[in-house]
Amino acid sequence: MGRRLFAAFTDPKRRPRAIIWSGVVLVGLVVFSAVSVIGTSVNWFCTDPCHVVHEDNTKTFVAGTHSQVNCVACHEPVNASPLIFILKKIEVAPDAIPTILGTFHLPMNENNAIAVQMSDLYCTQCHSLATRVVTPTKGIIIDHDAHTAKDITCPTCHNRVAHPEEGIEYTLPGDEKHEDWVTMDACFRCHSLEPGGQAPGACSACHPTSFDLVPATHDTAGWYAEFGESAGHAQAAVAEAETVAEATSRTAELPEIEKAVGPVLDPEATVNTCYTCHLKSFCTDCHGVPIPHPEAFYSSHGQEGLADPASCARCHARSAAEAEGTLFCSACHHAQSEPGKAWLPQHNGVVQSEGAEQCFVCHDTVYCATCHVSGKEAADAWLKANAR
Ligand code: HEC
Ligand code: HEC
Ligand code: HEC
Ligand code: HEC
Ligand code: HEC
Ligand code: HEC
Ligand code: HEC
Ligand code: HEC
Ligand code: HEC
Ligand code: HEC
Ligand code: HEC
Repeated sequence: MGRRLFAAFTDPKRRPRAIIWSGVVLVGLVVFSAVSVIGTSVNWFCTDPCHVVHEDNTKTFVAGTHSQVNCVACHEPVNASPLIFILKKIEVAPDAIPTILGTFHLPMNENNAIAVQMSDLYCTQCHSLATRVVTPTKGIIIDHDAHTAKDITCPTCHNRVAHPEEGIEYTLPGDEKHEDWVTMDACFRCHSLEPGGQAPGACSACHPTSFDLVPATHDTAGWYAEFGESAGHAQAAVAEAETVAEATSRTAELPEIEKAVGPVLDPEATVNTCYTCHLKSFCTDCHGVPIPHPEAFYSSHGQEGLADPASCARCHARSAAEAEGTLFCSACHHAQSEPGKAWLPQHNGVVQSEGAEQCFVCHDTVYCATCHVSGKEAADAWLKANAR
């Protein structure tokens, strides 16, 4: 073959035809390469032939602010030489097999690896924060330089900028939505209220003084009311703790992120929302006792309550009156006690109508006698008549 080709070029008669044909082949190759490189770089190639794979992703892309931008601008090397660009295409070519066979892995990008692997270069191709006047949503303060100075990459926060998922319905079976990191919880993967955090958690760092700092949940009835229903915040706290525990065990199973460019942080879902706005001591200072009560507390609560009644009254008293002294004990111990009213003036009526039998489950007769001392004989007689 090689010798015949050589002969074609050395034979003066056949040379012109040989040159023409090789020219044609060469031009053909160049056109083919150009068409395949350009062809595989247009959004159509990423969204349509691979429709099955990118169906969900295309929906989010079209809904985003970058819908006019080329996929390759963010998903293939920036300013790479044509050779690297072609090598990159060859590298991903084997992806065609699972695409055709329908065996590709879903959910896609479940640990947000793509965002962690993307450097600032992709974004700074088009955006310059040096010249751009940033106009964040009202009430939010952002200091871009503080983060760039610490090598925190753009997609560490703007991970969903080209693929916003809100209001989008995914249809590929097994596909799932991702975390959005422009949220307060996501900021608190680094920021913290507790001392020793790597970045400040004080509200004033990210919110102007005019901002309403109390979330809507807190204004609902039963969230917290002195001597009233406070189970709202308790249920929310329990639910949040469960969510965090579930997310922690679920995300511990996710594959580790290789070739990270930005910081690899714990997933946003593992951040306990309550502690983005509250120090832990805010909760424990108000409770005063461990919540929920530990098992041992149940047998010792009488003594503990008598030693410091005020520490129980804040949760167990149903009125300001019941918060006085040990009156709140009656809330549980005297089923007949009218809420918010002292038990003492009620107890005689109950004994008279229902008898004293039930009282002696908890009290011994000496207990009654300590007050009923209008004469030892009278008390004894009464006790004798009413004893079990
Ligand atoms: C402006 C930059 C940008 C453009 C343009 C862009 N993407 Fe993305 N894409 C991203 C980022 C950032 C992520 C990582 C998201 C994450 O990890 O949370 C991503 C993630 C993905 C994922 C993984 C699944 C997911 O939703 O996280 C796929 C698939 C994808 N992009 C395909 C495309 C396709 C196809 C196009 C063009 C139609 C495109 N992208 C255009 C930035 C971009
Ligand atoms: C090919 C150019 C291009 C690239 C690459 C690009 N953007 Fe954009 N971006 C735009 C254009 C155009 C807009 C719309 C006009 C504007 O707000 O600047 C935009 C808007 C934005 C906005 C404001 C609107 C919104 O949805 O919040 C943010 C934030 C943003 N881009 C971040 C990024 C990040 C982060 C990256 C890298 C992952 C990136 N961009 C990559 C061109 C680009
Ligand atoms: C620490 C998180 C964080 C990082 C890192 C970050 N940003 Fe932002 N950026 C924000 C927040 C928060 C906003 C305001 C969002 C809002 O308006 O709701 C914002 C706003 C923007 C906007 C929109 C400005 C406007 O006028 O609407 C652009 C563009 C932008 N960022 C680009 C970038 C680029 C480029 C990088 C990387 C060089 C980057 N950001 C890195 C958090 C970040
Ligand atoms: C990867 C960790 C990380 C994440 C995520 C992060 N930050 Fe930061 N942030 C920092 C660091 C580090 C500093 C600089 C602290 C310093 O200089 O002491 C900082 C500083 C800031 C500052 C300046 C505070 C001041 O008073 O100096 C603001 C504002 C800010 N971040 C807002 C945000 C917002 C809003 C988000 C979420 C959208 C966010 N950050 C997410 C690490 C992070
Ligand atoms: C590191 C930056 C940062 C700090 C510090 C911060 N926030 Fe935020 N906050 C955000 C961002 C970003 C949003 C908007 C995104 C969202 O809604 O999650 C937000 C939203 C909110 C909202 C409205 C959303 C909601 O949950 O109702 C409230 C209220 C709020 N913050 C209160 C606070 C309070 C109170 C503090 C101080 C204890 C605080 N923030 C500290 C970044 C911060
Ligand atoms: C976005 C910020 C934010 C989040 C998240 C948050 N809180 Fe609050 N919370 C506040 C602010 C602000 C106050 C008012 C503090 C003050 O007056 O000193 C408050 C007050 C409270 C109070 C006191 C009663 C009241 O309504 O004044 C309780 C109890 C409480 N929060 C419980 C919780 C629990 C439990 C969670 C988690 C499920 C939670 N908070 C999450 C911002 C928040
Ligand atoms: C202003 C005082 C106050 C603050 C602050 C407060 N709590 Fe409470 N907490 C109460 C009261 C009162 C109850 C009893 C509610 C009831 O009757 O169910 C309670 C009960 C609870 C319970 C229920 C325990 C159980 O076993 O049912 C949980 C959990 C809880 N709080 C979590 C929190 C968390 C987390 C915070 C901080 C983010 C917090 N609380 C802040 C007053 C407070
Ligand atoms: C929230 C309801 C509740 C409150 C408030 C309460 N108790 Fe009790 N207490 C109980 C229950 C329920 C039992 C039965 C426990 C058991 O059988 O294990 C009990 C049992 C007791 C016992 C018997 C303990 C034992 O060893 O079995 C004593 C003594 C006692 N309480 C004293 C008090 C005193 C004193 C107060 C007020 C300072 C008080 N309790 C407040 C619910 C309450
Ligand atoms: C911060 C609120 C709070 C404080 C303070 C508190 N409790 Fe409770 N207590 C609760 C809640 C909520 C429950 C019901 C859920 C549980 O078992 O934790 C409860 C349950 C109990 C029970 C069991 C009732 C039953 O029916 O099983 C006893 C007994 C009790 N508390 C006694 C006390 C005593 C005594 C004190 C003071 C030393 C005290 N508690 C302080 C919130 C509180
Ligand atoms: C489940 C246990 C229990 C039962 C049943 C019970 N008590 Fe009590 N009672 C208590 C506890 C606990 C206290 C508070 C202890 C203290 O303050 O020394 C108390 C306190 C009292 C007090 C003192 C109230 C005060 O203001 O100082 C009287 C009076 C009393 N009980 C009467 C009765 C009568 C009458 C009955 C029957 C109808 C009865 N008790 C049934 C547990 C019980
Ligand atoms: C803390 C003191 C105190 C204790 C303890 C006490 N009582 Fe009394 N009791 C009183 C007072 C004071 C009256 C009068 C109330 C009134 O007339 O309003 C009374 C009235 C009564 C009466 C009505 C008597 C009448 O002649 O009208 C009965 C019955 C009674 N108590 C039963 C008991 C029993 C049973 C116990 C023990 C389980 C008990 N009391 C424990 C203080 C006490």
